[in-house]
Amino acid sequence: MILVTGGAGFIGGNFVLDWLKRPVSEAIVNLDKLTYAGNLATLSSLRDDARHVFVHGDIGDKALVSKLLNEYQPRAIVNFAAESHVDRSIHGPTEFIQTNIMGTFNLLECAREYWGALSADGQKQFRFHHVSTDEVYGSLSATDPAFSETNSYEPNSPYSASKAASDHLVRAWFHTYGLPVVTTNCSNNYGPYHFPEKLIPLVILNALNGKPLPIYGDGQQVRDWLYVGDHCSAIREVLAKGVLGETYNIGGWNEKPNIEVVKTICQILDELKPRTDGKSYAEQITFVKDRPGHDRRYAIDAGKIERELGWRPAETFDTGIRKTVQWYLDNPAWVEGVVSGSYRDWLQKQYS
Ligand code: NAD
Ligand code: TYD
Repeated sequence: MILVTGGAGFIGGNFVLDWLKRPVSEAIVNLDKLTYAGNLATLSSLRDDARHVFVHGDIGDKALVSKLLNEYQPRAIVNFAAESHVDRSIHGPTEFIQTNIMGTFNLLECAREYWGALSADGQKQFRFHHVSTDEVYGSLSATDPAFSETNSYEPNSPYSASKAASDHLVRAWFHTYGLPVVTTNCSNNYGPYHFPEKLIPLVILNALNGKPLPIYGDGQQVRDWLYVGDHCSAIREVLAKGVLGETYNIGGWNEKPNIEVVKTICQILDELKPRTDGKSYAEQITFVKDRPGHDRRYAIDAGKIERELGWRPAETFDTGIRKTVQWYLDNPAWVEGVVSGSYRDWLQKQYS
């Protein structure tokens, strides 16, 4: 049994589905608060699967987390739960401090108490895997080398600052209390079940709905795109073989400026679902006001995880983005469920 937090979100949901697809997978207790980003429809295929126990709740709830640990005796915790959207953190940082910092602190404390009471064997097996972001390292210039695990932390947004704080707590719980932790810092993920406030799903859905495709600033900001299935396989690798107290950067080796990403999506849609007027979806591209404090470039040096654990992403950007666009075309029911929710209010606040 493992305890996954935030397993109704984008990456956590993919992780749970991938984990349970494997033949000899352990069961999962999935603790999720179901914020606007949590979506049980992502997990609907597991409704009758006894290996998945969903628990609606907050990682900051000490009584609940302790109860789950004692009841299910997981051999690992994988912490995905977070507020994850930079633009939301700019509009209102409170929840980011609450969940990303205080929530992680609570999980660590509950884990420490639980781990301290395990048998020597149980203690040796236990892992606390903290999922974090490359955004903690700040912004790169066009010529800087990619982020390695030894880069200093220079977070620039309320989101990245809250994740940086959580990483520091995890590190300290290892050094001070000996809690067996591993941390992974990954680049921008994309793929199925991605909430359409983030660039790639937003562009796919806006394109199909005849809406503008908003590009912040000049569109030359660079992100290093990682297919979510690759991220999930990397986490499984680190959970199985990662050295305690270490951090591992996970990236896709796919640096792309935003404008190129958007144009690629338009080209794929032009091919798979052409506009009825025969024009390209690229006609919908609209440059809008830039994000305050917008980081210029993120890039991950994923050499350590390759050298030490033998992991490399399976997808290139070309294969991953095609699969992703196809998934959104093939899953209108999931999309409709999301789009009819609070997403609308958010869109209006962000782009009006
Ligand atoms: P997401 O926003 O899609 O999902 C977050 C999930 O956490 C949701 O299901 C939400 O309901 C849940 N949650 C939020 N607050 C909670 C709380 N207090 N208690 C329990 N559950 C709570 O996020 P994501 O994109 O799946 O990201 C998962 C993790 O990966 C996050 O820690 C994020 O910082 C990190 N990360 C994401 C990306 C990316 O590109 N999406 C990149 C790097 C790192
Ligand atoms: P996003 O998906 O929000 O991820 P992050 O901010 O964590 O990198 O944004 C990816 C990039 O796309 C980022 O440089 C901001 C930009 N962007 C746009 O240009 N337009 C948009 O509507 C959104 C949501 C993002």
